Amino acid sequence: MQVDELLAALWQDYVVSTPQAAKIHALLEARGERVVNDHVALRTFDAVPMAVLAAPFEALGWRAKDRYRFDDKHLDACYWQHADPALPKVFISELVTRELSAGARSAIGELVEQLPAGFAPLPWEGRPWHVWHATYEALLVESEYAAWLAAFGFRVNHFTIDVNALTTFAGLAELDAFLVANGFVLNHAGGTIKGTPADRLEQSSTRAEIVEVAFADRKARIPSCYYEFAKRYPLPDGTLFQGFVPRSADKIFESTDVRRSR
Ligand code: NI
Repeated sequence: MQVDELLAALWQDYVVSTPQAAKIHALLEARGERVVNDHVALRTFDAVPMAVLAAPFEALGWRAKDRYRFDDKHLDACYWQHADPALPKVFISELVTRELSAGARSAIGELVEQLPAGFAPLPWEGRPWHVWHATYEALLVESEYAAWLAAFGFRVNHFTIDVNALTTFAGLAELDAFLVANGFVLNHAGGTIKGTPADRLEQSSTRAEIVEVAFADRKARIPSCYYEFAKRYPLPDGTLFQGFVPRSADKIFESTDVRRSR
């Protein structure tokens, strides 16, 4: 598999559950922009470690960089970067299941027990387990992240447009205004723009689209994935900051929060 095939497979899977991303992509291209991705984000349970999910990227030249910790959401995370700066970074977060309640641990256990030993998903594998709607609802009470992962499985949670590579917008606020004017709904949890130039990173995102998902026992309409936008600022040495800002990303995670989508 080549890099462009891998990225195309991720995008094709992502737009099935996130049609708004394809619409925004087309809208920007119609305006004369060439869309470049800053990063793609994937989620996993610790039973399938992030290193396993990262393997197809590492085989094509991505290398692990900084690690992060999100205490409130019980997540470890890391990002991978490619030597080719035109390629997106890969941000993978991993739910630390042992920090959850006995009920949530048991619900997640019932999912991962369905996986074969040594399970190594493709990053667009989708959901590899049967899950009841009630399990989704029970997980939602404690961890929106766990519920999303139970329902959607291993696939891109969001693509992120590199706002620095856009040529017809002065900044992130102007892009956000353009999207709102075109009927898209942004995630306002923690303010529309998370982060500041002093953080070297500003990000905003759409609110996750509501899609129909077939659970083992019934269908339900739940939030899927969102589209993110990142503007980076230079470090004192003049190079653009390439990392992430945990307290901003913490609020971005809430773009798929069903409680905030109501
Ligand atoms: Ni992101």
